[in-house]
Amino acid sequence: MVHQRRSNTRNRQRSSNCSVRSRVLNAINNPLKIRFKTRRRMKYNMELKREFKERSRELLGSEAEDYFQILREPLTNALRINTLKITINALKKRLKNKDWELKPVPFCKQGYWVESGPMKLGSTLEHFLGYYYIQDPASMIPPLTMDLREEQKVLDIAASPGSKTGQIVSIMNDEGLIIANDVRIDRVSILKINLQRIGARSVVITRRNGMNYKKMTGFFDRVLVDAPCSGEGVIRKNPYAAVQWNPNSFPKFSRVQKKLIKAGYQALKPGGLLVYSTCSLAPEENEEVIDYLLKNSDAEVEQIKIKGLKSKPGVTEWQGEKYHKEINKCIRVYPQDNNTEGFFVCKVRKR
Ligand SMILES: C[S@@+](CC[C@H](N)C(=O)[O-])C[C@H]1O[C@@H](n2cnc3c(N)ncnc32)[C@H](O)[C@@H]1O
Repeated sequence: MVHQRRSNTRNRQRSSNCSVRSRVLNAINNPLKIRFKTRRRMKYNMELKREFKERSRELLGSEAEDYFQILREPLTNALRINTLKITINALKKRLKNKDWELKPVPFCKQGYWVESGPMKLGSTLEHFLGYYYIQDPASMIPPLTMDLREEQKVLDIAASPGSKTGQIVSIMNDEGLIIANDVRIDRVSILKINLQRIGARSVVITRRNGMNYKKMTGFFDRVLVDAPCSGEGVIRKNPYAAVQWNPNSFPKFSRVQKKLIKAGYQALKPGGLLVYSTCSLAPEENEEVIDYLLKNSDAEVEQIKIKGLKSKPGVTEWQGEKYHKEINKCIRVYPQDNNTEGFFVCKVRKR
């Protein structure tokens, strides 16, 4: 009996080894087919928490169902062409020769969805050479709102892994001065590797608590506060975020976010621009933080307009709290609007 069971197990192992071998051979001989097949298999079967759904319905009304629907669909891989190293046309041609299918992101000239291509965008020669950076299109929005120019001094107060720093460097043609800061040493190492790969020379990396930048009062033309957050907007990329979702974490993040935005604002020159963003759609981490800044400074919110981007206005009332009315100039980017992650972006000017 025992002998028979062992032999059954051996047979099962042999057949599973066989199927692994045949899958590998198939992948080598017919990579495109495998890519499509893998994507079809990936459909999340996750349960969204009741409170998450209730809050989303309060924010979105009847559109909430579209939101829940798209959260079950995996993100389409996307990349941003690094124009510091290669032109858009040259990389497109090179990837087309390798049978990649790219679809342009309507609101970012360097952004493309990879409709068909390798499973791992991070394991290609082109990635190694820094010709592109893997980035969701929603994360490309904040640098696009910063009105960047080559001669400016820019602070990216919470920068790792460097998606937005890299984009800022590329928009500024690697001119000016960019300080990319992060508090965590392990995150700083990743930041360094990424910025080296894309060939950035105009960046200084610092490792400090971003709150310390308040001491550099009035120094920067532009400040980006891409704040640490609960990650509510990245459920499509990381379905585990739906499991981990816990509104009790919002006050903790909100406290850090308020300190960071205050420090960033203090480091800004009069007339300068600060952009605040998170990959969360919780008002406690977004509108509440902006409201706090408006109440404690002379900041003015500016309207964000990006051609080709669909978005919703910031909320001015949430669960009995009333926020400054100008906050409706901020934008909420929901995954169903542009087939991206969820993002919040706000732009304020220092008087
Ligand atoms: C949302 S991530 C930033 C993503 C980054 N801007 C990008 O586009 O690749 C937030 C970062 O804030 C950092 N962070 C958290 N608390 C911080 C603090 N007090 N000062 C500076 N950085 C902080 C975290 O280590 C994390 O890397």
